[in-house]
Amino acid sequence: MKKQTIKDEVKDFYKKYPCGGDWLKDDSRYKILPWLSEVFEHNRHKGKIILDVGCGTGIDLLRYIPTHNAVVGIDISETPLKIAKRRINEIGYAPLLIRCDLENMPLKYETFDMVYSIGVLHHTPDHERGIREIHRVLKSDGEIIILLYHKYSLATLITKINRTVYKLIATLAGPKVLERCLELIIRRKMNPAEVAAFREMWEHPLIKYFTKGEINRIFKEVGFKNIQILTFDALYPLSRVFPKLNKIDVFQRL
Ligand SMILES: C[S@@+](CC[C@H](N)C(=O)[O-])C[C@H]1O[C@@H](n2cnc3c(N)ncnc32)[C@H](O)[C@@H]1O
Repeated sequence: MKKQTIKDEVKDFYKKYPCGGDWLKDDSRYKILPWLSEVFEHNRHKGKIILDVGCGTGIDLLRYIPTHNAVVGIDISETPLKIAKRRINEIGYAPLLIRCDLENMPLKYETFDMVYSIGVLHHTPDHERGIREIHRVLKSDGEIIILLYHKYSLATLITKINRTVYKLIATLAGPKVLERCLELIIRRKMNPAEVAAFREMWEHPLIKYFTKGEINRIFKEVGFKNIQILTFDALYPLSRVFPKLNKIDVFQRL
């Protein structure tokens, strides 16, 4: 029997917990993460050929497809792609979706004007290879928007603490007690997107974090120019409870 690789585990994780859940219907993702709209400025990309790497359930594709004529999404996992297809069909469009590995995309050289990837490259074993693939399919005057986890942020600290506690309970008390504990937290009224976010924090088989220096080095080595690195939501998840914190100058600059 073929040995399960870490990539297979990642694929299986998203089969079980496809990200995005019910977010799409009310557009609440962009309400929860207002800075996403600032980063994307969707209208700026009108008329461009766009690729979403690791499109998941299509939350961002849905923003682009109605106003942009050539938008392609790729993802390694079948379940999120099925959801994306259904949702894009529901708004009256025929989606261009491909199931493939971002580290080896069946796409031609220099095809896209804009490639974006939200929260994906830190979940693939060879992220540098993935970044080289993005560079390969991008036109020479193209633009990318990539979102990665920052090593030095409160969100990362909280995720790491959660994962350590999860492992401790699993080791000391066993899977049944662990599942009971998780159910107690998840039992509250949560939509599938929120459940998936919690499960991802505890159970995702592969999460990487990057410093700004690492990001700069990797993207430069691959051949990207004019690299701009921004950090958002340094105080997440405290900023969700106390949104005014994000308005304080020192935290904005973080
Ligand atoms: C955290 S979700 C993000 C989905 C979407 N970008 C979003 O923001 O809602 C990560 C997605 O990346 C996909 N993914 C992970 N590794 C991949 C790989 N090597 N190639 C293609 N897709 C991959 C997963 O299947 C999953 O749908």
